[in-house]
Amino acid sequence: MRLQRYLALCGVASRRKCEALIAAGRVRVNGAVADRPGTTVVHGADRVELDGRPVELESETVCYMLHKESGVISTCSDPRGRPTVLSYFTGVKQRLYPVGRLDSDTEGLLLVTNDGMLAHRLTHPRFEVEKTYVAYLRGQIAGRQARMLERGVELDGARTAPARVEVLESDSGRSTVRIVVREGRNRQVRRMFEAAGLQVFRLVRVQIGPLPLGTLKPGKYRKLGPHEVQRLLDEAAAGEFDTVK
Ligand code: URA
Repeated sequence: MRLQRYLALCGVASRRKCEALIAAGRVRVNGAVADRPGTTVVHGADRVELDGRPVELESETVCYMLHKESGVISTCSDPRGRPTVLSYFTGVKQRLYPVGRLDSDTEGLLLVTNDGMLAHRLTHPRFEVEKTYVAYLRGQIAGRQARMLERGVELDGARTAPARVEVLESDSGRSTVRIVVREGRNRQVRRMFEAAGLQVFRLVRVQIGPLPLGTLKPGKYRKLGPHEVQRLLDEAAAGEFDTVK
C-alpha cells in the first residue's frame, strides 16, 4: 500500500499530514529516506520509521470515551505544558490520540483511540457524524434566535448546516439549550450562538452519533465495547450515504 496510507493507518496523522511528513524527509523505509511520491510498502515486510522511531500497525485497536474537563487541551502535547487529554491515560500502553477535538474550555465526551481508520471515519466531514452539545447561555433565548440556529448562521462567509435545537430551560437570567450539529468548524457551536446574539458561558458535549456520555464522571474514561464501536461506524456509514444522496 502507499506509504502515506500505511502511516495514517498506523495512527501517525491524517493521510494529508503524512504526505507532508514524507515530503519533509522524516520517513525512512528499510533505512533509506523515502521522500519520493508514490512509495509503496508491504506490511510485515518493510521496516518503516518516522524520525528514527519504528511505525507499526497496532495489533489491538482500542477506543475510549473520556469526560474531558475544562482547561485540558485535546492535542497530544502542548508546548506551554498545559495538561492534555493524554494525561488521563498514563496507565494505558497503546499510543493513543484524540478523535477530533474539543476546545480547552469545552467539557464532555471525547473519543480517544489508537485506531486511525476509526478516527478518520468519525472526523471526516464526508461522514457527517452528529454531535450533541448542551450550551449554557447568559440571558433568555428568544424563539427567533432558536430558529436562526436551526436554519444555520453565517460563519466565515459560509452558512452552517441546519441544526436541531431544543430549549431545555430559559428565563431572564440564563438558558440551557441542547443543540445537534453535523459539522465541526473551529469553535463552531460557540460562534453559532454568538452569531445569533447569545453568549455561551459553558459548553458540554453530551453525545457523538449514537453514543451518549451517560453518567461518566468528569476526568474519567472507559473503554468502548465492540458493539459501541460498531454503532459509531454504522452511523458514519449512514452519514456518508446521506451525503451521496
Ligand atoms: N463547538 C465549540 O464551539 N467548541 C467545541 O469545543 C466544540 C464545538
